[in-house]
Amino acid sequence: MKAQVLTSFGGPESFELRDVPKPVPQSGQVLVRVQATSINPLDYQVRRGDYADLVPLPGITGHDVSGVVEEVGPGVTAFAPGDEVWYTPQIFDGPGSYAEYHVAAESIVGRKPASLTHLEAASLTLVGGTAWEALAVRAQLKAGESILIHGGAGGVGHVVIQVAKAMGARIFTTVREDNFEFVRSLGADVVIDYTKEDYVEAIRRETAGHGVDVVFDTIGGDTLTRSPDVLAQLGRVVSIVDIAKPQNLIQAWGKNASYHFVFTRQNRGKLDELSALIERGQLKPHIGAVYSLADIPSAHARLESRDNGLTGKIAIAVGPLADVASANA
Ligand SMILES: NC(=O)c1ccc[n+]([C@@H]2O[C@H](COP(=O)([O-])OP(=O)(O)OC[C@H]3O[C@@H](n4cnc5c(N)ncnc54)[C@H](OP(=O)(O)O)[C@@H]3O)[C@@H](O)[C@H]2O)c1
Repeated sequence: MKAQVLTSFGGPESFELRDVPKPVPQSGQVLVRVQATSINPLDYQVRRGDYADLVPLPGITGHDVSGVVEEVGPGVTAFAPGDEVWYTPQIFDGPGSYAEYHVAAESIVGRKPASLTHLEAASLTLVGGTAWEALAVRAQLKAGESILIHGGAGGVGHVVIQVAKAMGARIFTTVREDNFEFVRSLGADVVIDYTKEDYVEAIRRETAGHGVDVVFDTIGGDTLTRSPDVLAQLGRVVSIVDIAKPQNLIQAWGKNASYHFVFTRQNRGKLDELSALIERGQLKPHIGAVYSLADIPSAHARLESRDNGLTGKIAIAVGPLADVASANA
């Protein structure tokens, strides 16, 4: 099978499209013919060597699969050949999804929502699973509460807006002005241009000093230390970013705040929760660009560059390229 193999840690040129052996499903595993995957910041962080201790080389990265079950290993009961499935491969535990075939434990695999194309489904497994875990499991966002979502136009942010809206929250989000219309169309109530206005001032003004119940951090920097300035009493901060240096969170004390750090975990339950939102019309991934398996190095360079003109996700067509043409039409 064809796969993009990471041969060394470095720039996008560190990938090589190679022929490698097709994996064989073991007990409890399914073999999936990958139709689509997508690009996440985690992929270029892996490629650069940010997690070099956890990533053996040469290796295959990639953290989203949408495809069709080709074969099942002994003991698999939930799936049969021909089933359309979606999932995030176990992170830092075996080959990823930049390949024509992938094997996974059936426990982390879900049935692909029928209303999504493979490109759409593959754009959602990692970011959607992260959004669900952060909002529902960790922050326990409730109807009538308010949330500040940093980076609302990004891969994670545009999904978090929709999931938080479906949960009945009032949504504040930071984006640049070009993306105001996009995030409003997803359900954002108050939009703040982070390039022109300090979000702390904006939240204080918009909430008459009350603050928000939850802050969702997708950007890092000083967000954790500044969050108490925008939190209401008993507020929660949920962060999905790797924190580069120690932080002093003492200001959180006066707000009785709690902090949740999320590194997304894989299970079918989360995917089923997302499916329910999708089938109710409350969640749809936005694909900003589509590339092919062979063009993954270009897709990495695009996502990694700050001025990439992107909203939502970059999807990768692993199956027929006709899929790319129709998605870009
Ligand atoms: N822990 C986990 O399980 C987990 C899971 C998924 C992702 N993540 C992490 O979450 C982060 C975001 O991922 P992603 O997929 O959403 O990335 P992405 O698609 O590249 O989106 C990032 C977004 O952040 C915006 N942004 C950058 N600086 C900002 C600022 N100061 N204020 C407001 N918005 C800002 C960008 O907007 P512009 O276009 O204006 O630059 C962009 O829309 C990455 O660090 C990723 O590794 C963690």
